[in-house]
Amino acid sequence: MFSVRIRVALGVITALVIALLSSTAAFADGPWPNDPQGPQAKAVADLYWIMFVAAVVVLAIVDGGIIYAGIKFRERPGHVAKQFHGNNFLELTWTIVPTIMVVSFSVLSWQKLDFINNTRGSDVGMVIQAQGQQWQWTFSYPHEDRFKLLDGTYLQTSEELHITVGTKVRVELSAKDVIHSFWVPSIGGKKDAVPGRATELWIQADKPGTYKGQCLEFCGDGHADMLITLVAHPVSDYDAWAVAAVKDANRAIDPLTKVGRDTFLSLACVGCHTVKGTTAGGKIGPELTHVASQKSIAGGAVSPVNEDNLTRWVKNPPAVKPGTKMPNYNLSDQQVHDIVQWLLTLK
Ligand code: CUA
Repeated sequence: MFSVRIRVALGVITALVIALLSSTAAFADGPWPNDPQGPQAKAVADLYWIMFVAAVVVLAIVDGGIIYAGIKFRERPGHVAKQFHGNNFLELTWTIVPTIMVVSFSVLSWQKLDFINNTRGSDVGMVIQAQGQQWQWTFSYPHEDRFKLLDGTYLQTSEELHITVGTKVRVELSAKDVIHSFWVPSIGGKKDAVPGRATELWIQADKPGTYKGQCLEFCGDGHADMLITLVAHPVSDYDAWAVAAVKDANRAIDPLTKVGRDTFLSLACVGCHTVKGTTAGGKIGPELTHVASQKSIAGGAVSPVNEDNLTRWVKNPPAVKPGTKMPNYNLSDQQVHDIVQWLLTLK
């Protein structure tokens, strides 16, 4: 049977194949470029698979040939190693075949690049600006009535980007500080956002869903947390999302609750709490975006959520719920009043 060396070699190859297969399986659920969910990612994945299969075939033929020749024609007792120098058929084959392959791949790649880089076609259904900044993405929606806010500006969101299924969306990129890179793997396309330079790409999702993305250019301490959540809505749901998002954003600019909002945003509150549509993005405490719609907060210690109860709570949390992580900040009565008035609008 096989010698020890061949058996060791076979063992190593088997282990490598298993490792490769299991790592592929581990990526199956994640944002994975080979699980295309849009035409652009599909174009890239198709090209990838064509090249991958071609590479495997070439590997099998070349390595198979080497192994076959190495065993069959090797020098051994009773046999003199054969020489094939100057074999015209072989020389021509391994010159012409790789040339045809390289040329074919180049043509295919150019075709796909044409498709991928076509951000200005008449098929573009929406244009959104994305600005990278250490360390989050800000998305600006089109100047359409449905995105208009109370102060006359238009909707902007952070981290989350909302589009409709089946719409080709041009994303115009810019960067405020350093180079960032926009990438949602399963949707495809990847482009750097460079300070002082306009770049763009297009995205399109075939199915409703949430797709994970990531800044792909190292941009400092927070790079790994510079995430993108791309939400593709069915067309019928998109307006409902827009109405809710505009409502959230309006809350942040409503002049009636400005004092309370500014007070909240200037204090330590923002370190723990998130309020969508504002700069408050803390993750330690509960999100407060819709706190006024909740039946109770603080694990039931504040119930119902009304002006009196919120006032007691904000003024001295440990007095209401001993052991709570929210400390007494010794706010003035006026500060408490302003903050509570604002919290009551968070519905
Ligand atoms: Cu932004 Cu990495």
